Amino acid sequence: MRKTVIILLTLTMLGCGQKSEKSENLQTQIDSLENKLSESYKPGFGEFMGNIQIHHAKLWFAGEHKNWKLADFEMNEIKENLEGIQKYCSDRTETKSIGMLNLAMDSLNNAILKKNKGMFQKNYISLTNSCNACHQATNHEYNVIIIPKTPPFSNQDFQIKN
Ligand code: HEC
Repeated sequence: MRKTVIILLTLTMLGCGQKSEKSENLQTQIDSLENKLSESYKPGFGEFMGNIQIHHAKLWFAGEHKNWKLADFEMNEIKENLEGIQKYCSDRTETKSIGMLNLAMDSLNNAILKKNKGMFQKNYISLTNSCNACHQATNHEYNVIIIPKTPPFSNQDFQIKN
């Protein structure tokens, strides 16, 4: 009887020992994953803005050529980058001002839906003014956005094919 108790006690102790070793291993794994996460690549505000700049420029030439499908695509690219800023740059105070583009984006979307070039041009100017309004509001007034004079790349055709 006593033997059985001793054996049981020993087994229980062994069991406990194993458990704590297991949880120690788990903790080490968690620590290393946390480390990896904190070091993983996160796109910055400026990178999103650089992307937005490209799509803003392409958008103009899509509209100029009445290529409404491409214009709609470029608008979505801008939207995705704005969402990226909200997701990955929530620690930047400037992110709070991202809604400054909403009105201009909605009106431009409407012009694209209506396939109206005059309306497109007018609202594209409003969008560009909103970009600059935020740059001014966030002390980045030296980043001045204008209507592009030439397409950003020579290897893309903005005319409608077919
Ligand atoms: C929420 C305010 C805000 C709005 C809206 C905004 N920007 Fe910016 N933009 C910034 C900030 C802040 C920076 C500086 C980013 C950094 O820290 O690198 C910047 C930087 C830039 C740069 C410089 C990036 C570079 O690498 O040279 C460009 C180009 C730019 N924005 C284009 C635009 C365009 C085009 C729009 C409109 C479609 C726009 N921005 C709308 C806040 C804004």
